[in-house]
Amino acid sequence: MGKLLIVTIDGPAGVGKSTMAKRLARELGIPYLDTGAMFRSVAWKLGEGSWEWDEDKLKSELASFEYTLSGIGEESILSLNGTPIGNEVRTEEVGMWASNMATLPVVRSFLKEAQQSLGARFSLVAEGRDMGTVIFPEAPRKFFLDASVEERAARRFHQLEQMGKPADLEELKEQIAKRDHQDRNRAVAPLKAADDAVTIDTTELDKEQVFATLVQEMQK
Ligand code: C5P
Repeated sequence: MGKLLIVTIDGPAGVGKSTMAKRLARELGIPYLDTGAMFRSVAWKLGEGSWEWDEDKLKSELASFEYTLSGIGEESILSLNGTPIGNEVRTEEVGMWASNMATLPVVRSFLKEAQQSLGARFSLVAEGRDMGTVIFPEAPRKFFLDASVEERAARRFHQLEQMGKPADLEELKEQIAKRDHQDRNRAVAPLKAADDAVTIDTTELDKEQVFATLVQEMQK
């Protein structure tokens, strides 16, 4: 097998990492890894409040969690114990549960091992909060996407509207800001750009412009 390629995309909630990671992965003909879905699936499976359990209980529950990855680009499928992780974990509420889980060293170190072991077997576009800083520090291409909280809340609002799920813009703004604050300020693997990441402020850019910038950078 040739050398594996790892591209990392980090950034705050709702900045469009998944959309860009899927597209870039398709362009490169490799899978994309949604590590937020891993934190979400832990929180979803163990349930509300499980982030308050003691370490030993969490560790023994996690011992039965196995993640597998198949497919390429948008068709990448991340499964937990053989079941694809679906839309049930992609609510703002489960996002906050995931953020609570993500403060716990025992959960981070378990998922770190799972993420690195996928990266040892597949070329990946890996997206999350600490891909470039902690999980794949040697990755040859690292991106950090950012945008104002107002813009990210507005994007999420339109997305939900299109899905026929009207939301409250102010509430979305508050939820996103709260999750960002927790993700940026936690003690372990806080959200931040790697020193060698290319940072793209997407506030004033549309999807095509962001994607074009990623592709341009990849060609350098
Ligand atoms: O990216 P997504 O919104 O799905 O992530 C859910 C939560 O999981 C984040 O708010 C963050 O707390 C946590 N997370 C993390 N590290 C990652 C990916 C996600 O801490 N690599």
